This record gives sequence, structure tokens and C-alpha cells, in this order.
Amino acid sequence: MSGPLGHWRHAEVRRFAEIDSTNRYMVAEARAGAPDGTVAVADHQSAGRGRLDRRWEAPAGTALLASVLLRVDLRPADLFLCAAAVALAAADACRKVAGIEPSVKWPNDLLVDGRKLAGVLAELVDVASPPSARGVPGGGTAVVVGIGLNLTWPGPEGVGGTSLADEAGVEVERDVVLDALLEALAPRRRALEDPGGRRRLLDDLRQRCVTLGQLVSVELPAETIEGTATELTDHGHLVVRTATGPREITAGDVVHLRESGGRRVGQ
Ligand code: BTN
Repeated sequence: MSGPLGHWRHAEVRRFAEIDSTNRYMVAEARAGAPDGTVAVADHQSAGRGRLDRRWEAPAGTALLASVLLRVDLRPADLFLCAAAVALAAADACRKVAGIEPSVKWPNDLLVDGRKLAGVLAELVDVASPPSARGVPGGGTAVVVGIGLNLTWPGPEGVGGTSLADEAGVEVERDVVLDALLEALAPRRRALEDPGGRRRLLDDLRQRCVTLGQLVSVELPAETIEGTATELTDHGHLVVRTATGPREITAGDVVHLRESGGRRVGQ
């Protein structure tokens, strides 16, 4: 229940054996008035959504597939922090339950030694909160943040993924990971509410962001650029220093590169 934000806690957790997409479900529930902090979790999704209009697939029972509804009072430029809060909370949870320290690949993937452990997809709900909720803490914009975290299956071939079981050497129950994530989300969610908290979230994101300092290629709708990722702006954009000058990226597919035999190859 959200209650006073000083005591923010997630609300009800709705569990599904099978669903098309927990994000799709939670966006619909947000439109229907579900409260801040409502969580959906599924054993399997038949139409899981990934970033950049991709699909997110995982065999039943092999991944944590969850979405949380956040109703926040944030300027549009700060909304990226909702996904950051969930990604950082998931990293906190991995440390607690599995003793591993994932880093963040821009914008929100969790990586372990360059292998993808989890992906995060934030969707802005296009309907404002009801008038009764506006102007009260948590009453503003509805954002659904979904996470797919590989528990025992490292993801499809060719993606270079990993799983919590592979990294920790033991299998951790899905609900143990979910509980730890939601516990870690509470302070991160509270941090969204004040300028100091938002600065701390951004600092934590910058510290964990393994993309910074990396040679990258970024696939944009009309071109692919290459360069060194130098900065994460206050609005969550990635600055890439290219041969023709700095470019500020708002969305795109980033590949971390390394030099091999005089060539640049994906990691
Ligand atoms: C990515 O492309 O890396 C983000 C993937 C996010 C997948 C999760 S799984 C739970 C939630 N429901 C969805 O349909 N997608 C997100």
C-alpha cells in the first residue's frame, strides 16, 4: 500500500500462471485505477514485451517476470528515474539473495561480466490519474515498469545472456528474488519524491553504469554511430563522443565494443 510516502510499500501482488504480458496487464489496470505500487508477476508470458518493440521470451518458471505500477509526481524529464529505481532495486536484490553485483548497461539492462541478466521496460500510461489523486503524493503520472530477470535460463541463443543460477552457483526461488526486489524498491521509490533522492538515484545509476567510458555502437532509426560513451545527462540521456562530435542519445540499441586484431567487435 502506498500510504504516506515516508512509509512507501508495494501494494497487492497479483500472481498469474500464464498471461500475455504483465506490462500490458498493468497498463490496463493503471487505466482502470489500480493503486500506486500494484505488482503483477507471472510464471509465463505468451507475448512478453521487450524494449524497442521486441518480444521477451522465457520458458515457464525460468525467470522473474514482473511489472510494478508507479504513480509519481515527476516532470517528464525525470520519468526515466522510475525504470532506474527498479533496475537499481533489482541489482540490490541480486546482491542480497545471490551475492552478485550486476552493473547497468544503458539504459537499464543488468549485466554480469558483460552478460545480460535482466531487462527493464518502462511504459508511460497515457491516461492521467483521476482528479482525486492529483496533487497528492503518488497521484500524478502512471508508469508501469516491467522486469524480466533470468533465474535459471540464460535467455535465447545469440543474446549472450546469463542467469542468476549460473552466476551464483545456486538456484534462488523466484519469490525470494521478488520479495528482495520489492523490499529494495521501497527506499528507491521514496527517493523519487524529492530532489535530493532523485540526485542520489542518478548518482547510483552513474556509478553502476558500465556503459560509461566504453567504446559503443548505437543503432538509431536512421543510422548507426560509434564512439565512446562519456556521460549520462541529468535527463538520463547517453552522450557518445564520435569522430564528428558529441551525440546525445535518448533511445537506441547500444552494443559495447572491444578492439580485437585492429577491429571493433561486439562484446
Ligand atoms: C528488454 O528489452 O530488455 C526489456 C525486457 C522487459 C521484459 C519484462 S518481463 C515482465 C514485463 N512484462 C513484459 O511484457 N515485459 C516486461
